[in-house]
Amino acid sequence: MKLAIGNDHVAVDMKNEIKEYLEAKGIEVADVGTNTTERFNYPVSGYRVARMVADGTVDGGVLICGTGVGISLAANKVHGIRACVCSEPYTARLSRQHNNTNIIAFGSRVIGIETAKMIVDEWLSAEYESGRHQIRIDMIAEIETGQSLSAAEK
Ligand code: RB5
Repeated sequence: MKLAIGNDHVAVDMKNEIKEYLEAKGIEVADVGTNTTERFNYPVSGYRVARMVADGTVDGGVLICGTGVGISLAANKVHGIRACVCSEPYTARLSRQHNNTNIIAFGSRVIGIETAKMIVDEWLSAEYESGRHQIRIDMIAEIETGQSLSAAEK
């Protein structure tokens, strides 16, 4: 498995710890974030990771900024990306099972490293359940590509 990881200047330490944690599990990690505390605009790493996920260069992505909000918003602008920001493992697991998320995001100012590891673990071990969930994923894609949703007009 190969993941991409990205971060901004407030999440360097957490990014490095999560990267090491993933590598210790045998996961290949492409680090496209910053490694200094100089101001680094989160859309840059959000976009880089999203692009790699959307292209199929990697199997998924991990994004970390102060809250996880800005960086996940940026990633979600790339077609095909379903990035979820969360602060606890339950949402991380359900985001895979029901929403087929391909990027998980969290905030270094919001959660501690142990919770971050639990989030990553739950997200990686969960599998998309498809079935009844696929129709909603297809609706999200319809909004994304057409800026409209036929089901909402009925
Ligand atoms: C940086 O100050 C901060 O705005 C950023 O890390 C993130 O929290 C944005 O959503």
